[in-house]
Amino acid sequence: MPVAYERYLVPVVFRPFAEDLTARAAALHPRRILELAAGTGVLTSALLAVAPSAEVTATDVNEAMVAFGSTRAPGAVWRQADAQRLPFPAGGFDLVVCQFGVMFFPHRIEAFTEVRRVLAPGGRFLFNTWGPLGTHAFEVALQAGLERAFPVDPPQFFRTVPHGYADPAVVAADLAAAGFAVEDVRELTLQGRAASTADLATGYLTGTPVRTAVEERGGGPAVRATVIDEMTARLGPGPVSAPMTAYVLRAAA
Ligand SMILES: C[S@@+](CC[C@H](N)C(=O)[O-])C[C@H]1O[C@@H](n2cnc3c(N)ncnc32)[C@H](O)[C@@H]1O
Repeated sequence: MPVAYERYLVPVVFRPFAEDLTARAAALHPRRILELAAGTGVLTSALLAVAPSAEVTATDVNEAMVAFGSTRAPGAVWRQADAQRLPFPAGGFDLVVCQFGVMFFPHRIEAFTEVRRVLAPGGRFLFNTWGPLGTHAFEVALQAGLERAFPVDPPQFFRTVPHGYADPAVVAADLAAAGFAVEDVRELTLQGRAASTADLATGYLTGTPVRTAVEERGGGPAVRATVIDEMTARLGPGPVSAPMTAYVLRAAA
């Protein structure tokens, strides 16, 4: 999964937002950075490049991601960790960053409370979360393709997980419940550019948990063909481009 994720989705969907978060992180001049849900390390690499003297600790709950990321961004200390139970002492970081990870945490207030515990007083928590599914044209097209391929019981992963924590007022309330002072909430729309809908479909169908959902429904080459056909009908042939909206939040411990 990390290989397909890194090859087909990171350059299109994740790198543009990693560049944004990196610029916001650099403006805080952090010395000790903890990254949660670091995945294959796109944000990690950018942070190491922009803040070479900072100590960067990168974590993810998935061992395969940690193994991939530690090769891609060896300048960070990599460690397997669930954001809800961080294996670090209190007050050890002045910045915690997380790109498109908080939506995956089953107990967000618990995770945010852990983040606050490992931050030094006045330290910052900087992260992003996707807007509603309808604001991400690539994933609207993907979901339409899945619904055409599986008219009964289509996979709902994108609607319920990546785009299931899409109300910034709810996110800010969860931060406040964990004791954070919310400093900034920003809506950000960036343009994604992919070589083709076939590449996008490969990324989504093999580099995300949709892979398991499709396999469970007996998916095969026909599913991929249907998804590509629907995505092409909506996004066009050849290189494709579409807006993607996220919220970026900064909170102080
Ligand atoms: C959409 S990916 C984002 C990865 C990376 N931040 C990026 O921008 O490419 C979500 C990541 O969250 C991780 N994750 C899911 N649940 C987690 C948890 N409870 N604690 C830490 N990481 C988690 C997954 O393993 C996955 O790598």
